[in-house]
Amino acid sequence: MKPDIKVIKRKLDNSLITKIKYYDSVTSTNKVAMELEEVEEGMVIIGGEQRKGRGRLNRNWHSPKSGLWFSIIIKPDKNKIDKIAVLTLIGALAVYEAVSNLNINVDLKWPNDILYKNKKICGILSQFRSKGNKVDRVVVGIGVNVNQTSFPKELSDTSTSLRIIKGDKINKEILLADVLNNFGFYYEKFENDEINDIINKWKSNMFMLHKVISFSTSDKDKFKGEVVDITEKGELVVKKENGDLEKFIAGDVSIDKNSLSF
Ligand code: BTN
Repeated sequence: MKPDIKVIKRKLDNSLITKIKYYDSVTSTNKVAMELEEVEEGMVIIGGEQRKGRGRLNRNWHSPKSGLWFSIIIKPDKNKIDKIAVLTLIGALAVYEAVSNLNINVDLKWPNDILYKNKKICGILSQFRSKGNKVDRVVVGIGVNVNQTSFPKELSDTSTSLRIIKGDKINKEILLADVLNNFGFYYEKFENDEINDIINKWKSNMFMLHKVISFSTSDKDKFKGEVVDITEKGELVVKKENGDLEKFIAGDVSIDKNSLSF
């Protein structure tokens, strides 16, 4: 069902979100947000369904009508460019808090996932577009599994939805407004150089802090290490078995339940 944009707008409590555009069916809200020529900061693109939803590492993102699929367009100042990874963390925090308001106990998984009992309920894909050597926009794409009652076989072990967890249909308009309000709140901190508040919030809700994890990046083998920090650029700081600290801006983290210490 088409969301009532007026209802969403009425619930917004900050000035970040300007225009909201809804498409019944899109390839991917990120693709639309990346390709639009004229955009302004705070524009939101919502897709009723995505025919070619994209996840990290170029994976497909299953996006039926029952979910919430949207992208927020940000035009960050050039003095913030080295910190744009924090925008993904802000997106995750915004969803984390909105879902927690529904009394669902979820985990934040660096950098872009929200899990319920180890199953995914939300993923975030941030992309940026440059004009010359200037970042023209950052697109923070957020996908929340809201009202699905089942998942395709290949996802059923790894994904769940808010409706499955609560046993009740969730109002997507209220949820979206809540996420956008939270996003606006933390984005204001980002703009005002209060990034520490964002990082501290992440750290206090991040299940994997001080746990031993397996870490892999596309160019490096998997290794074990203890998560010790997140930097102001959004990097994960991992203490390796030999005691060395290493920072990562991207990568896949998994928690080995049988080995929470070296
Ligand atoms: C991931 O966990 O791999 C990231 C998934 C991101 C999905 C969202 S849905 C809205 C936006 N449009 C897309 O095509 N992807 C993101």
